[in-house]
Amino acid sequence: MSGSAKAAIQADFVFVPRAAEIAREAGARLREYFIQGVETEYKGDVDLVTVADRAVEKLIRERLREVFPEHGIYGEEGTRERMDGEYRWYVDPLDGTTNFAHGFPQFCVSMGLEHRPKGAKPGDDGTLVAGVIYDPMRDELFTAERGRGTQVNGKSARVSRVADLAEALLATGFPSRKRHASPNIHFYHEFTLRSHGVRRAGSAALDLAYVASGRMDGFWEFNLNPWDTAAGILLVEEAGGRVTDFAGARYRLASDEILASNGLIHEELIGFFSDMFAGQNLSPIPTAAEFAKNRERATPAGTNRPPGTPAGSKGAREQESGA
Ligand code: IPD
Ligand code: CA
Ligand code: CA
Repeated sequence: MSGSAKAAIQADFVFVPRAAEIAREAGARLREYFIQGVETEYKGDVDLVTVADRAVEKLIRERLREVFPEHGIYGEEGTRERMDGEYRWYVDPLDGTTNFAHGFPQFCVSMGLEHRPKGAKPGDDGTLVAGVIYDPMRDELFTAERGRGTQVNGKSARVSRVADLAEALLATGFPSRKRHASPNIHFYHEFTLRSHGVRRAGSAALDLAYVASGRMDGFWEFNLNPWDTAAGILLVEEAGGRVTDFAGARYRLASDEILASNGLIHEELIGFFSDMFAGQNLSPIPTAAEFAKNRERATPAGTNRPPGTPAGSKGAREQESGA
């Protein structure tokens, strides 16, 4: 694409350029905190928060007020401003706090913009019109504006072409609240056996950005919040993918279930969720106790097979024959 064509497309964007500037500034601040190291507090159970989450939400709030004074803001760390506005930003100043707190460099800033028609009731969804996710450790900026596609650092991005679940790379995440009520580990187990693998990298917004840019083929999670998903949903849709609940119904921001994919494996994923919830076509694996019993059977106490040498292996045969 020529320079002038690129400039014309840039000029077309209404929200992305200024939101991207804010996300970059916020991400730079996160990177500083990350390098310097911060104290961690508990919001509950294993739900962590740091000074960085709060300071960066404040920074984003101030910048959004300057740039889009009419827009509402709904942030994870408590910001609720102009909730009756026609536009509303869903802001996660730091998605991946647990990673951040442990020095694991997978986290981002996420900002999604919803247009809410006049008269919309508090529970009604509007239309997602812009999304910006910035990964400060890789300096990667994922952007989308409705009708204008998805970009990674300004270059057009598309979802993958993988058409079979068996060849897909998937992502998921686990809640940090009410962990004992989540069934997700069962889904993790089944999907791991039926795909190329499931990554649990700890940032739902980046997981969605990775589906949008073709690095992952599908993502699901229970109980996310609109600040985790708003930007990523638009990125996936604008990149040619699909986002629904686990039964294939239109995704709503207040939904307890999100299923995002390249579109090609979506029906297969939905069928699989339906099987899971019905307890059908599952792939059992041994429990740890069954595994230990089998291992004991294969490695009877008193044999001279060294610990960790599988029965029947060359090492075990040599040991047992005294070679
Ligand atoms: C969390 C991350 C994580 C997901 C959790 C979220 P936070 O957000 O997105 O990947 O599994 O459900 O709560 O707390 O780091 O902003
Ligand atoms: Ca989050
Ligand atoms: Ca967060």
